[in-house]
Amino acid sequence: MVRSASAVREVPRQNEPTSGLPGLDRAFAYRGGVLTVEDVDLTAVAAAVGTPAYVYSEAALVGRYRLLADALAPLGAMVCYALKANSNQAVIATFARSGAGADVVSEGEMRRALAAGVPADRVVFAGVGKTRDELRAALAAGIMQVNVESEPELELLDAVAREMGRTAAVALRVNPDVDARTHAKISTGRKENKFGIDIALASAAAARAHALPGIAFKGFACHIGSQLTELAPFREAFARVAELVRTVRAQGIPVEHLDLGGGLGVRYGNEPLADVAGYAQAIRDTVAGLGCRLVVEPGRFLVAEAGLLLARVVYVKQGESRRFVIVDAAMNDLVRPAMYDAFHAVLPVREPPQGTTMAPVDLVGPICESSDTFARDRPMQEVSPGELVVFCTAGAYGAAMSSTYNSRPLVPEVLVRGDRFAVVRPRQAIETLLALDRLPPWHDEAQKPPGAANAARAQSS
Ligand code: LLP
Repeated sequence: MVRSASAVREVPRQNEPTSGLPGLDRAFAYRGGVLTVEDVDLTAVAAAVGTPAYVYSEAALVGRYRLLADALAPLGAMVCYALKANSNQAVIATFARSGAGADVVSEGEMRRALAAGVPADRVVFAGVGKTRDELRAALAAGIMQVNVESEPELELLDAVAREMGRTAAVALRVNPDVDARTHAKISTGRKENKFGIDIALASAAAARAHALPGIAFKGFACHIGSQLTELAPFREAFARVAELVRTVRAQGIPVEHLDLGGGLGVRYGNEPLADVAGYAQAIRDTVAGLGCRLVVEPGRFLVAEAGLLLARVVYVKQGESRRFVIVDAAMNDLVRPAMYDAFHAVLPVREPPQGTTMAPVDLVGPICESSDTFARDRPMQEVSPGELVVFCTAGAYGAAMSSTYNSRPLVPEVLVRGDRFAVVRPRQAIETLLALDRLPPWHDEAQKPPGAANAARAQSS
């Protein structure tokens, strides 16, 4: 572990990446010519855990949480961290210790949240296809509320709750039919998307929920998409939900909870800095006056800029027309570029000298398909085999979306605090991966000498 001269660790409270590094919180900076995470030198991390590896800054995680939680505190809003962005228990526990709740979308995520210390009464369970078993598990755990996304789910939850002798606290997720103006694959608030109950049908659904004996109807939820870089769609969606609350209350049905979803975007490249104050203002202007208990479910905003993926250059291959930089990380480790054409800035760990020339390269991984490409024609400093590079803004939907495609084991995750770092998920051993498979019993039979099975049959007849 490398110690730097400065012992004082400052938790960033402003959304200003003073390091000037694209897509990284100010906890990341070049110091003494080497990229550091807080007071830890990334070459030391690579030496200790190898590459590829995810590295997160605790100060950045806590800083992002505080930034949002402080802005929303006057509104009494509870921040339920959306685990799907990064479900490492060390990350969840860091937020839980700061006071966050959790937004979960599977039994696995619910169990992670509880195991990491999130109190059950601060957990909301979302998702369009919760199974009977998941609904049972949610009721057994006594979570704050289930965000129900359809009438059939409502009926099933009512039945499950009555079987268990409980009542299920429910918010109905509505689809407000608002264009989030984000990538089509992460847009969720239009009529044509599978999510939520059409807002036009929501007051009837609320009346049904209110009437069902196994359901305690609490209110509404909405989430229109992820990586929103404008506030107008939030404002529009919240205003529509506020209108719905007034309509439903006019029918004599109390509405106590409003879950406003996640979606706040971050800066991968040229996006504007997230306007946290503007987001709080949009909430204040639209729904704060309703007197509901407010919940938000941010994922990406809390973790994206707090993490990077550390990798090593394996080869540099000069083709006739293109130069390929081949790294040891691949689309199984970070799928966002292959899946959403997402941009992740790439930086060398050794600080390039001032005035270094840049030349376009294709940055690729070793997986056997062309979509294993992190960047095409990306201007980059000269890098050599063995050199360390980082993919920025990889704290969200990086490790959480990784797979073992091409039988590549899951990579480690490392959390930094000041001049210390801890492996919060070790590298998966290839043996562990192999041990998951089983051979079917008939393979044993096939291993007997040819003709043995026939001979045995002939003998017994
Ligand atoms: N709440 C609900 C109901 C959601 O569906 C999501 C994200 C969130 C909260 C958190 O949204 P966030 O604050 O992170 O934008 N894998 C994609 C992102 C998928 C987001 C899915 N839902 C990516 O890498 O861009």
